[in-house]
Amino acid sequence: MPLDHKKRVLVVHYSQTGQLSRLVSSVVAPLREAPGIEVKFVNLETKNAYPFPWSFFSFFDVFPEAVYLDPPELKNIGLREDEKFDLILLAYQVWFLAPSLPVTAFLKSEIAEKVLRDTPVVTLIGCRNMWAMAQETVKQLLAACGAKLVDNVVLVDQGSNLASFVTTPRWLLTGKKDAFWWFPPAGIADEQIAEASRFGLAMREGLAADKEKTGLPMLSGLRAVTADVGLIKSEKTGYRSFRIWGRLIRMFGAPGDPKRKPVLLIYVVFLLVLIITVVPVNMAIKRLLASRFREKHQAMKEYYELPSGSGEERMDEFQCQN
Ligand SMILES: Cc1cc2nc3c(=O)[nH]c(=O)nc-3n(C[C@H](O)[C@H](O)[C@H](O)COP(=O)(O)O)c2cc1C
Repeated sequence: MPLDHKKRVLVVHYSQTGQLSRLVSSVVAPLREAPGIEVKFVNLETKNAYPFPWSFFSFFDVFPEAVYLDPPELKNIGLREDEKFDLILLAYQVWFLAPSLPVTAFLKSEIAEKVLRDTPVVTLIGCRNMWAMAQETVKQLLAACGAKLVDNVVLVDQGSNLASFVTTPRWLLTGKKDAFWWFPPAGIADEQIAEASRFGLAMREGLAADKEKTGLPMLSGLRAVTADVGLIKSEKTGYRSFRIWGRLIRMFGAPGDPKRKPVLLIYVVFLLVLIITVVPVNMAIKRLLASRFREKHQAMKEYYELPSGSGEERMDEFQCQN
């Protein structure tokens, strides 16, 4: 790639605990080392910062706005409307089955509409394990900006669904991330973050070959995303309930309004009962009936794994760097 034709890559992200920042650094490292690529970072910041660790009320209080995509005010993004990029990497975490509010605010901003238009976008998700509904929303927001989604990479928290049901909220509500009892540490495993540099290597190679212009994925065959049909069904149920309760809670006041507290409390109890009862029963029934719905489930898995897929055939080609 001649130096006077540098490819411009924009990396947009927000991170509360720094986990997504570490993931972004790992993925982007090979791009930053490439002489033919210029990387620009946008670290989103909201005017009113979200607390970490979260208090019980502040944590649940963000869910109505997250689900209704009601954007908070962002600090200056540091992008010009006329800036153009060859590729945009949009890294985000999920908040209540929706993109986190700072990322929603970016996607709904006027500047994003201009900068994203006609530009290939790679989404990079780092979350507990429920990301499918959020990605559907992000796809719609990207389409509204006229952007082209070419790849999606998803990394989820270590341990079983049951383990992260305990470790992730413990981390978010107390700041404690360490292993305890028989639980693993909270968050995405360090090795997974380190090995995510394979995506940067593949993007570097793709950019050198102008692959981003084809609209085809650059990250297939690298185990970019593995969808769990059982979890997606639970997400669909959860999302419906978030919409109903979110609307109700928003009637009681704006974010932070103490009048929202009693309704939020009732909802949290309802949600816990739902998670402890409906979710496992739902998943068990789905597993039992899996053979009868194999084709339908396979089609669903493939749909949610688009565009990059869960294939592993190119894993050896892109050795882990770090
Ligand atoms: C308010 C809130 C809601 C969350 N909801 C979800 C969720 O619905 N699905 C999920 O997989 N992870 C969820 N998470 C976990 C985040 O996606 C993410 O893994 C964690 O917040 C660490 O991200 P960070 O890089 O911002 O520190 C939630 C986190 C927060 C703070």
